[in-house]
Amino acid sequence: MLEQARTYSVDTATGEAAPAELSTARVKEIFGSIARKYERFNAISSFGAYKRWLRGMMQQAPIEPEHDVLDIAGGTGDVSRAVAEAHQPRHIQCTDLVPAMLEVAEAHKAHGDFGDVPIDFDVVDAQSIPYSDNSYDVITMAYGIRNMPERLKALREMLRVLKPGGSLVCLEFSTPPNRLWRALYHFYLRHLIPFWGGLVTGDSSGFMYLAKSIRAFPDQEGLGRLMEEAGFCNVTWKNYTGGIAAVHVAQKPLD
Ligand SMILES: C[S@@+](CC[C@H](N)C(=O)[O-])C[C@H]1O[C@@H](n2cnc3c(N)ncnc32)[C@H](O)[C@@H]1O
Repeated sequence: MLEQARTYSVDTATGEAAPAELSTARVKEIFGSIARKYERFNAISSFGAYKRWLRGMMQQAPIEPEHDVLDIAGGTGDVSRAVAEAHQPRHIQCTDLVPAMLEVAEAHKAHGDFGDVPIDFDVVDAQSIPYSDNSYDVITMAYGIRNMPERLKALREMLRVLKPGGSLVCLEFSTPPNRLWRALYHFYLRHLIPFWGGLVTGDSSGFMYLAKSIRAFPDQEGLGRLMEEAGFCNVTWKNYTGGIAAVHVAQKPLD
């Protein structure tokens, strides 16, 4: 895990050192092609628990009505929708690397799914964020960092655009601490999820990548250390469903 934290860029499917372009091209291909099926894909890949984890994420998110929120890897807008519903901040900037994902989010806006909360969309690579230093109160990110080959660089970018004292709230698949639960979960990931996911959506490749990338991703402590290495402080996390998912909250130091 420590080795991974020091590595400049990784293959997000294996955790091994690799040029960033390899993972970036794969992620663009996967999310570009599943964008319209993504919400169904998400419900399957999180065993339907996604909504519960999202509610937990919202409870942990220190968002106030006067806040500007940046949603990183916002995809089809699920997290931004939950933020709008739970917290009604001043503004949400929903961003993602893949335009096709954001098109679905924009269609949700057209349907009024974000209520009265002002929201804008922008194609942004989290590893090189085109916004000013100290400009956001809270950053949300669900299932994003695992897909980024330059994780430390991405976290440093998030730190840069957060205001001092601002928070990063990160929901991600993680590692169940209980050995038996972990073994069952990894069996499910390896053998059942690509089969079941392929059956429901007609394409198992995204599910195979998902299963591999989850197994290769740092555990709760490893991700916490990576956040600290990027410069965050007060890093805490809470496990969901026995550690299958975790929500990390980390702060940008005040000075
Ligand atoms: C599993 S989806 C999560 C979407 C959304 N946060 C949700 O909870 O439904 C992962 C998203 O990360 C995006 N992504 C991957 N690499 C990224 C990067 N370097 N910068 C920004 N977004 C990225 C993908 O395009 C995809 O939309």
